[in-house]
Amino acid sequence: MRFLVVDDYESLSRRAALMLAGHVVVNPSVVLGLATGDSPLGMYRELVKLHHDYGLDFSSVRTFNLDEYCGLSPSHPQSYAHYMRQNFFTGVNLHPDNTHLLDGVAPDQFAECIRYEDEIKQAGGIDFQVLGIGRNGHIAFNEPGDHFQVRTGVFELAEATREANARFFERGDTVPTRALSVGIGTIMKAREILLVASGVEKAHALAASIFSPIDPALPASILKIHPNFTLLVDRAAARDLAERDLSAYQ
Ligand code: F6R
Repeated sequence: MRFLVVDDYESLSRRAALMLAGHVVVNPSVVLGLATGDSPLGMYRELVKLHHDYGLDFSSVRTFNLDEYCGLSPSHPQSYAHYMRQNFFTGVNLHPDNTHLLDGVAPDQFAECIRYEDEIKQAGGIDFQVLGIGRNGHIAFNEPGDHFQVRTGVFELAEATREANARFFERGDTVPTRALSVGIGTIMKAREILLVASGVEKAHALAASIFSPIDPALPASILKIHPNFTLLVDRAAARDLAERDLSAYQ
């Protein structure tokens, strides 16, 4: 595990974008695993800039998103499909056929999950996976539980997650109770994983994930055994990590 602390969200976003851009330059048809939410937003902004200002070429890059809310169609303004179009896909030269998301309104959700796993497999697996972390330690929509969900599936959202994500929804609109999400096994099979976290509200989950034993009650705790895992955080998110001796991780 590599542990990188930067000053603030801006530096974090630039650093994450450069790491991802490096993969695109080295392997133009790289397979990226992508997250949504606030954490990677600045990274997407930086990548759009790198495309416009320096010609970073996404024409052969393939992407797979982590998750989608059940019941939201790709055109719904709170869907992750909409988020990705708005914040990344339309700002770079990704080919629409190369961008993949779970379909939140698929008539058979279980078949949809199997289809998605197959597509990832056919693409050769994920080369570089970007993750955020929930305040309760969730990754993608793998919520704290009594076992790790290995494969892509239909997951119940924790109440804490629904509350945290209510900020993205209009008043009166309710946050869905379930989501389609890749599983922990699918995430752990990625060749490289980057987790980005900013802000003091992530400090506790991060420190617990790094220092506690691997535990499905804290899904992110499994990441520390991934052979190519980078934790990139700003100073605020590192608050509870900074008190410990992390020299072994740097
Ligand atoms: C989103 C996802 C979630 C978020 C997490 C943190 O695709 O997989 O696990 O990464 O909920 O969200 P933010 O970044 O909004 O704090």
